[in-house]
Amino acid sequence: MTCKIGLIGCGTVGQGLLEILIQKKEYLKKTFDFDTKVVAISDMLKGSLLIPEGIDIEKLLHLLEQGKRIDAYLEGKPNEAKQMDALQVIEQCDADIIAELTYTDIQTAEPATSHVKKALQTGKHVVTSNKGPATLFYDELKKMAEENNLFFRIEGTVMSGTPVFNLFEHGFAGNSIKEIKGILNGTTNFILSKMEEEGMDYEDALKLAQKLGYAEADPTADVEGFDALAKIVILSNVLLQGNIKPSDARREGITSLCREKILEAKKDGYRYKLIASTKEEKGRIEASVAPQKLPLSDPLAGIMGANNALTFDMDLLGKVTIQGPGAGKIETGHSILVDILTIHHHLSK
Ligand code: HSE
Repeated sequence: MTCKIGLIGCGTVGQGLLEILIQKKEYLKKTFDFDTKVVAISDMLKGSLLIPEGIDIEKLLHLLEQGKRIDAYLEGKPNEAKQMDALQVIEQCDADIIAELTYTDIQTAEPATSHVKKALQTGKHVVTSNKGPATLFYDELKKMAEENNLFFRIEGTVMSGTPVFNLFEHGFAGNSIKEIKGILNGTTNFILSKMEEEGMDYEDALKLAQKLGYAEADPTADVEGFDALAKIVILSNVLLQGNIKPSDARREGITSLCREKILEAKKDGYRYKLIASTKEEKGRIEASVAPQKLPLSDPLAGIMGANNALTFDMDLLGKVTIQGPGAGKIETGHSILVDILTIHHHLSK
């Protein structure tokens, strides 16, 4: 069965997914009987394309590498999608699944939420790595999907391709969670690691994180804890069945941590980490993001660089810590592939 995909947003993550689809084509066919056709792409900056018989992904990626627009693909031939915006492309395309991969706006969750709703209203499953809709409207969108017999899957919103939500559908299934605690922002962990290990200044470490592509478009979201806050809200609402908003959680970033404080903690056998945590206490979700001084024996203290980690304290398994990449082109592209494969698996039954 061929799975038809529409891509909304074709920046880093979208191109990461397309690269994986080329690289793993044979493997996916052989292992999962998974064939795909990308039938639509719309990007706010690069244009739109609707090709029901499937886009030649290699040709498209080649154009993008040369700095050309998506709509250069048809080179002078009529392109009915050229004047269309993302909502029109979602409505008009014949995709089974829409991959919503636009930039995250934590304040409004737009335009991503409108894209998700349009896809669900027009009978398409949605997979996304965009933190906005999952942070602010998860319950509403999940309900909307279920009412329409559709999937709304969000593996890439937390820890990119390192599995989190999928773990609770399979490997961790049956456990009740007592507490989730971890490092959910790669940029701040990278900055703290550089300040401690190399004695780097905060400003220089931040600049390097931006250069390496870890930081959000506005790095305030990273260093003031908003990005980690969004992720802990998502974890609270999805895994602890909470119904909290970002304003319900305490938030503090890393800007109050100077190098002296970090080095002093190191001398005493401790390490500062920006820790996000959540648990249910007497029917209420207690979630927070704040720097914490951890003893070096804590598994979270050993997570360095741009990595992320989560310790799940569960009733059946006790404490399990997972660690892995929390950002990146291929890594986040992989999270989208995994959600697409899950939908494909259900549709093929
Ligand atoms: N800016 C984020 C981080 C990217 O540093 O973790 C992934 O959400």
